[in-house]
Amino acid sequence: MTAKIIDGKTIALELREAIAAEVAAMKAKGFPAPGLATVLVGENPASQVYVRMKQKACEKAGIESYGYVLPETATQEEVETLVKELNDDPKVNGILVQLPLPKGLDEERVLNTISLEKDVDGFHPVNIGRLAQKGRESLFVPCTPEGVIYLLDSVGAELEGANAVVLGRSNIVGMPVALLLVKRNATVTICHSRTKNLPEVCSQADILIAAVGRPAMVKRDWVKKGAVVIDVGVNRVDDSTRERGYRLVGDVAFDEVKEVASAITPVPGGVGPMTIAMLLRNTVRAANLANNAS
Ligand code: GUN
Repeated sequence: MTAKIIDGKTIALELREAIAAEVAAMKAKGFPAPGLATVLVGENPASQVYVRMKQKACEKAGIESYGYVLPETATQEEVETLVKELNDDPKVNGILVQLPLPKGLDEERVLNTISLEKDVDGFHPVNIGRLAQKGRESLFVPCTPEGVIYLLDSVGAELEGANAVVLGRSNIVGMPVALLLVKRNATVTICHSRTKNLPEVCSQADILIAAVGRPAMVKRDWVKKGAVVIDVGVNRVDDSTRERGYRLVGDVAFDEVKEVASAITPVPGGVGPMTIAMLLRNTVRAANLANNAS
């Protein structure tokens, strides 16, 4: 068996075109352009790249982006004051505080400061809490996990009753994606650094989500024949044949696992582009909520 390669880049592009059309229609009706504020604290190079990509994607979709950069030395109060100003700014529909924050800043307190209606990342403790509760809906769902579910749906993966294994329990991906899978009635196992017999546990999975940040960790014999494999990992590995000196690889040994999986996402070009598409979608939703409330 050779797996279907799930083309997240194309799927995300189609979504982004639909979002751009929706934004154009909103503007044609006289509503203001939706606005996304990005807050970048410090100089983490990967975060700088991600924020730039998010801003560019906004521009292309007709969404205004307002970029705020604070120094590495910014205090908790300075970050929270900025977030509060953005909460009060009617041009801003969504607030994205890029994570991780520099050491010494209390991430939870910052996220708790974001207005629920502007929490387009879905990381506010109340939104995450609602995700974990039966019969409750969060206002916004975190972008990468939502993108993972979108890709699973795009290949018609049966989630109800499926054995889903999530590798990784991060706040940004592992835990929320596990909660979303539970909401879709999958039977979910969350694996982490203390999990025993990891290859054995993974090999039971109908749906395998890898989000641990370990290059090519998931091998062919970890994967059940016909499983759907979603690789969230983005790892830099040295590669002197590349001009920039490295290449990106996922958490899954793609070339060998594609021989047993029924469908698999590549890295790059799988989950990554979906995160941005979902962020744009959440921002437009936030704008619609604000417009309907005014
Ligand atoms: N860092 C890594 N992924 C994300 C994300 O989706 N949102 C934010 N705010 N920070 C991140």
